[in-house]
Amino acid sequence: MKFLSGEKINEIRNSVDIVDVISNYVQLTPKGKNFMGICPFHDDNSPSMSVSREKKIYKCFSCGATGSVFKFIMDYENISFPEAIKKVADMAGINVEIGNMPTKFKSPLYEVYALSLKFYTNSINTSAGKEAKAYLAKRYIDEKIIKEFQIGLALKQNDALSKILLKKYKPDLLLKSGLIGKNDYDYYDLFRDRIMFPLYDLTGQVVAYSGRIYDKEDISKYFNTRETEIFKKGELLYNYHRARDEARQKGVVIVMEGFMDVIRAYSIDLKNVVATMGTAVTSFQASLIKKMAKEVILCFDGDKAGAKATISCADELFKIGVTPKVIRLENDMDPDEYILKYGKEQFLEKINNPLDIIDFKFAYYKVGLDLTSSTDLSNYVSIMIKEIDKIDDDILKEVMLKRLSRDSGLNYETLKEKITIKPVIIKKEEKAVKTNKYDIAQRNLVWYMLKSPKVIKMYDNRVTFMPNASYRLLAREISLFYQNYGYLDEAEFMDYIMEDESLIETLKNINKANIKETFTDEEINDYINVIYDYNIKSETKRLQKELEKEVSPLKKAKIVQRMIDLKKGVGENV
Ligand code: UTP
Ligand code: MN
Repeated sequence: MKFLSGEKINEIRNSVDIVDVISNYVQLTPKGKNFMGICPFHDDNSPSMSVSREKKIYKCFSCGATGSVFKFIMDYENISFPEAIKKVADMAGINVEIGNMPTKFKSPLYEVYALSLKFYTNSINTSAGKEAKAYLAKRYIDEKIIKEFQIGLALKQNDALSKILLKKYKPDLLLKSGLIGKNDYDYYDLFRDRIMFPLYDLTGQVVAYSGRIYDKEDISKYFNTRETEIFKKGELLYNYHRARDEARQKGVVIVMEGFMDVIRAYSIDLKNVVATMGTAVTSFQASLIKKMAKEVILCFDGDKAGAKATISCADELFKIGVTPKVIRLENDMDPDEYILKYGKEQFLEKINNPLDIIDFKFAYYKVGLDLTSSTDLSNYVSIMIKEIDKIDDDILKEVMLKRLSRDSGLNYETLKEKITIKPVIIKKEEKAVKTNKYDIAQRNLVWYMLKSPKVIKMYDNRVTFMPNASYRLLAREISLFYQNYGYLDEAEFMDYIMEDESLIETLKNINKANIKETFTDEEINDYINVIYDYNIKSETKRLQKELEKEVSPLKKAKIVQRMIDLKKGVGENV
């Protein structure tokens, strides 16, 4: 897919400094010729991502993520290649038309949702919306908020939305939307007589609704769109697209339970806020939160359920090396109620003085226990040991153990024996088992082809093929690129193969090996010989099998001759 000429893409890439651009997302510090930072594409706390101004690429030594400035923005912001190009072009003041760029496949449901949003936001402003507006006003949700959060209304009629949508879209599509249902006779609206809060995906498109009842009391006050092809509840956070920049700038993200809480926080100009929407935080959501900012503050409802949710969200964050802070609100209040009751200043005061999650955990598990009773004490210690065991951070483990030892009066060493300390090197060992000398030869050869045209020529001249298909395909692309353009620019090459996920994956795996930058001709020749040797051996094996099956003496002789030729050829150019 070429929507812009390679030249134009090069011009855009070369007109920005990759170090400047990535610095907007990740803190970078100079190290030698390059810059280092914490890689946002895997769970890490130590700087393993290197950015090269000269080569215009970044590379993570740990997860292998690599690419040009476009790839970085694509993966960081979850946007398409054209969108990333447009972004960088904007930074550089270069004009490109994104309108005619083909983007990734888009579900037709986005359009259905865009139309339904128009209808709902329009309906709330009609006479039918009077009562809903009064309800919102009673909750101090003014016109400005209604507009900003695109709050709408589903009418009382059975088929108000259905009628409109059916004029434009096929029933089959609509039944997949989560907005329309069907009985024996007719299509009907799934949302009726509710205030509609749109839910957005990570890029800010409406993909679902949460509809609230407003004129009666009911235990299930919110009705949510079921999961569809564009809406996976565990893969989004309410308000993510609006909060992202603010959170990055402030270096803090505040996580709440309900979207009403987020909307309220907005009304006091607190904009680095997202909501989990009342379900257990998934590992996906946790990694989204981690991407948003270094500091994470959990501000869940003040009730028991909120405390429990705080613990489980914190656990999910622990797993990926994030230690959140915690806000607890008094009298079972949620942030919405707290802000309305005590006002902006007092709430900010709370936010600015969060608790340590560890303090919270120790307090949480002590509730209702009497630590002077042996049973309670022993229960408490076992719970805390289990808790501490879950943490994937050895230092934090130590800190908590010391604390528990002080708290319980039990011996530190005894407590420590109950904890499993994981061997840290597991990953490296796995790697070592899988790679043999043939893998290493192919992998390193591809790597050096990427670094030097000389190696490309050496490969093209001598090796017939690499046995491993992934390496072979990547090597072939490198060769072709060089043949076509007469040079090899790493950043340009990576953009060139951007659309091919398997090539990118191969490149990632090569990067993970952290192969040194420099090489000698002798090393390259060694790799080539190893690969050559492998090909001869496997070809010989294949011929051997053929020979065993063959009955015709003439054909047998031919096979034997080929085997002899192969043997003679060892070490020579092929
Ligand atoms: P809450 O019960 O805390 O909602 O649920 P809230 O924010 O205080 O809402 P109001 O103030 O009563 O209007 C937190 C989140 O859980 C989900 C919603 O996403 C809500 O934002 N939820 C709650 C449901 O999906 N269904 C429900 O019936 C209740
Ligand atoms: Mn509430």
